[in-house]
Amino acid sequence: MKEIIKRYLQNPDFTKEEFVELLQCADDPEARAALAEEAVRLQKLYYGNKVYTRGLIEFTNYCKNNCYYCGIRRGNLHAKRYRLTKDEILSCCETGYDLGYRTFVLQGGEDAWFTDDRMVEIIREIKERYPDCALTLSIGEKSYESYKRFREAGADRYLLRHETANERHYHQLHPEQMSLMNRMRCLRDLKALGYQTGAGCMVGSPGQTIECLAEDLVFLKELQPEMVGIGPFIPHHDTMFADSPAGSVDQTVFLLSVIRILLPKVLLPATTALGTMDPKGREKGILAGANVVMPNLSPVKNRKQYELYDNKICTGEESAECRGCLAGRMASIGYELAFERGDAYMNNKSE
Ligand code: 5AD
Ligand code: FES
Repeated sequence: MKEIIKRYLQNPDFTKEEFVELLQCADDPEARAALAEEAVRLQKLYYGNKVYTRGLIEFTNYCKNNCYYCGIRRGNLHAKRYRLTKDEILSCCETGYDLGYRTFVLQGGEDAWFTDDRMVEIIREIKERYPDCALTLSIGEKSYESYKRFREAGADRYLLRHETANERHYHQLHPEQMSLMNRMRCLRDLKALGYQTGAGCMVGSPGQTIECLAEDLVFLKELQPEMVGIGPFIPHHDTMFADSPAGSVDQTVFLLSVIRILLPKVLLPATTALGTMDPKGREKGILAGANVVMPNLSPVKNRKQYELYDNKICTGEESAECRGCLAGRMASIGYELAFERGDAYMNNKSE
């Protein structure tokens, strides 16, 4: 086994330079297998063979931001915009509840129509109707005050990928108005407010180097998020990155293992993007140490419109059946879907 892999398995407290060396092994099947073995040992230690489920509700594709990689960025005039009404959102929750889900994830673009008052009303109502469910928000950058109001209204968790921890790379992916500093401020506010907090990044986004990924890992170690979302970058035809190559499945699963070992108790989804790049992508993710899947609960009529990248799976006729589909996929690799809330351990230490 490569020396650097051995060292990581002994003590994952790596510097950026050590992570760079580690990441150079992502193409080596033997290295991936060695990391996956330890990652799965930790995954099984804390979660057994259970894969947590989260019902994802993509409630608006309006967005005031213009992130260069994203299909629903403001500047994409071809995107057909939609927003769900409160009743439609609640009816997604009802369907999800009946399917057994006990976490709902409200995800959307940064849509000014959903003012803090409107969000608070929706959060309150969901928590009142489903007090036994966890509610996760994924609605972008807000002020400390807004995050505080959502938290007080009952939101339990918040997903906000940092996208990249490297300043230069951040500006390659985002217009000038956005800053890495504000992104990080948001993540620290969310932690301080007691949210179970999720950070993360795309793998293989344009301009990303191994050094960037090493900085992502150092940042994650320092932030200690309860959740980490990573998936391959996939080009969207209406963006300036339309012709950029997609991220690699091997590098993504390698990173999933690295992250499981770095933050042993972390909640780590095998993402839809990974499933889009490879028909067995989500299975590969679980077998590399991931322990969460996020089936889509959005109304079938809107699913194609929430198009962050091309060829997104689960948007066609089959999509009403994600629960059964995923149950079968997990069973085929010896795992079982779990339907409890699946809260985070509030520290990530391995003891
Ligand atoms: N490919 C893969 N992932 C993407 N995201 C946005 N656009 C793309 C793309 N083209 C991811 C971002 C964002 C999350 C909701 O989706 O990381 O945080
Ligand atoms: Fe959605 Fe398979 S998980 S169709």
